[in-house]
Amino acid sequence: MSDPEPASVSRLLIRDLEQLATPAGRDAPLRREALDTVELLEDAFLLCENGRIAATGRMRDLPSLPGEVEEIDGSGRCAIPGLVDCHTHACFGGDRVGEFALRAGGASYEELHAAGGGILSTVRATRAAGEEELRAAVRRHREWMLRAGTTTFESKSGYGLDRETELTSLRAIAAEGGIPTWLGAHAVPPEFSDGDAYLDFLLADVLPEAARLAEAADVFVEEGAFEPDQASRYLEACRAAGLALRMHADQFTERGAVPLAVELDARSADHLEATGPEGIAALAASEVVAVLLPVSALFLGRPTPPGRALVDAGAAVALATDFNPGSSFCESLPIVCTLACTQLHLSPEEALSACTVNAAHVLGRADRIGRVAPGFAADLVLLDTSDWRYLAYHLGGDLVATVIRRGEVVFTR
Ligand code: NIG
Ligand code: FE
Repeated sequence: MSDPEPASVSRLLIRDLEQLATPAGRDAPLRREALDTVELLEDAFLLCENGRIAATGRMRDLPSLPGEVEEIDGSGRCAIPGLVDCHTHACFGGDRVGEFALRAGGASYEELHAAGGGILSTVRATRAAGEEELRAAVRRHREWMLRAGTTTFESKSGYGLDRETELTSLRAIAAEGGIPTWLGAHAVPPEFSDGDAYLDFLLADVLPEAARLAEAADVFVEEGAFEPDQASRYLEACRAAGLALRMHADQFTERGAVPLAVELDARSADHLEATGPEGIAALAASEVVAVLLPVSALFLGRPTPPGRALVDAGAAVALATDFNPGSSFCESLPIVCTLACTQLHLSPEEALSACTVNAAHVLGRADRIGRVAPGFAADLVLLDTSDWRYLAYHLGGDLVATVIRRGEVVFTR
């Protein structure tokens, strides 16, 4: 009997890289010095096999590779891990460009929200869109993210706020390759007189199916949205249904969201623009990841979150875009990295770790993505620079030369 044919191996070699930069080690989430440590290989190669990273090293140590190998010339380029966006709202109908113009003229985000605009205007447009239109929207936004170097994205629902549109949103996100988070508790829709009645409906009628479609649940804790006691009821029920817990916390006002996130052992507390010293200390002493969204603060002209203080206190910090039509119409994690360095006073190394390893941890995937190391998914970005720190340095720069996902080139310019 003859031996079975060896399974075919698809191999991709990236050679002559100026630098290969990756967060070091295997631990997650990273804090303190580990967050600030990026391993650097110069004059490097990177070998991918069947969608995973097989080996990395110096060019002088490159072994001979018999058989078929696709090659990419990395000269003049740096390789970093594919970026991970752990907080987006990419599934929506319409846009808010009119509201953007009103805000430019002085109207505030909270005033527009209270007058039935803001999130609720996107809810009307999202309800009016069918499944195909929502899928097309997610696909379009995913392509924008990919061109900016994002190889993994999470997206929340939260612009349906009725059973059918919430579930359609979660399906559309998953169908287009996103990691779905159920943000049923984003705002109280107009057909409900109060938040408690809306939560009764969400937990009885939507949660059972949402828990099958989503990986996590999220809630907007804020004046005019949900109070901490309501968030607690919603999140406890979501946890019992098997979902990981996230929270929009302290965006405008500090009202107990952080202590609740710590008490519930949530995966993350996101935003934190209004978080004070006690909240910083509580997060640092916990396993909850502080997800910072500096574009959202910039886009709304709000104070930035206390990034440096959180990192110095020992908190696990991640960075994300918060891509959405109202408060952050920006899909670029490189721009987020620039703002992290210039506004939050993180180092380029801390910024890279925060939107790779730590973001992967928030999504429960730090064992598979977010690092350039053997065994990890071959998700990579090649930057058109000889120093990877241009990722943060070149504000809005057109740096992303090639994006590789699971060992396949998915974007190149
Ligand atoms: O994270 N703050 C609540 N939700 C989103 C904004 C949603 C919107 O304005 O449409 C955020 O900023
Ligand atoms: Fe958000």
